[in-house]
Amino acid sequence: MPPTFDPQLKRALADRIRYYNELGIYDFYRREATIQIQPEEREPLPRPKAAVVAPKEELFEISTAPQSALADPAQGLRAIREDIGDCTRCRLAKQGRKQIVFGVGSPRADLMFIGEAPGADEDQQGEPFVGRAGQLLNNMIKAMGLRREDVYIANIIKCRPPGNRTPERDECETCSPFLMRQIAIIQPKVLVALGAVAAKTLLAINAPMSELRGKWYDFRGTKLAVTYHPAFLLRDPRQKKEAWKDLQMVMKDLGLVAPPKSPE
Ligand code: URA
Repeated sequence: MPPTFDPQLKRALADRIRYYNELGIYDFYRREATIQIQPEEREPLPRPKAAVVAPKEELFEISTAPQSALADPAQGLRAIREDIGDCTRCRLAKQGRKQIVFGVGSPRADLMFIGEAPGADEDQQGEPFVGRAGQLLNNMIKAMGLRREDVYIANIIKCRPPGNRTPERDECETCSPFLMRQIAIIQPKVLVALGAVAAKTLLAINAPMSELRGKWYDFRGTKLAVTYHPAFLLRDPRQKKEAWKDLQMVMKDLGLVAPPKSPE
């Protein structure tokens, strides 16, 4: 006999599917059925620590990128940009953002940096990390022996929050599925979360930066490291040496060697 769904659950499922379709996601896979455990045998589930974004995988696993997008990641990224359109999915569309800041760099990058949200310069130019923090990020990339165009740079959210306030949880939840698709297409070897907002959103862990950085995480099968946000390093340059340690950990993993310092 086919299973009968509670009408409320059915409506919630239909809404969720419509939401994913709107994001351009059409393939869903059911998780393998788990063995039924009698209630009295059930272990209490470990409670996640307070999370900025609760993982959304309780119902479905979002499909990985289709083969065609993996064969031509530049085209795959263009398709995501088209799906985003002139997005009005969250309040930021009506709060003064000039344009969507999608992401920039190599569609086949081994290394992907993820920041928080566009600021005024990024909103103006339509490219992430082009202001003062971006200049520092460029220097960090160069110090790793790479060029900006070798890596991919994106943010958790694609629109500038008014006054550069911290993105709200629902804004991150609405926008981050597009970032997940970008990651799925680029398939970087390493992700670097820049700052607490990116780290906490991706990892769903609420911990101070001092605890988050300096170690590897598994992000859906991709290695992820956390380091200080360049804007924070501009405010507290003494922390640059700590950030450099994080980047060296990443360089070691990617087999990168720092270029010799050019004479001043
Ligand atoms: N800060 C960010 O987190 N992202 C940008 O694109 C610029 C500044």
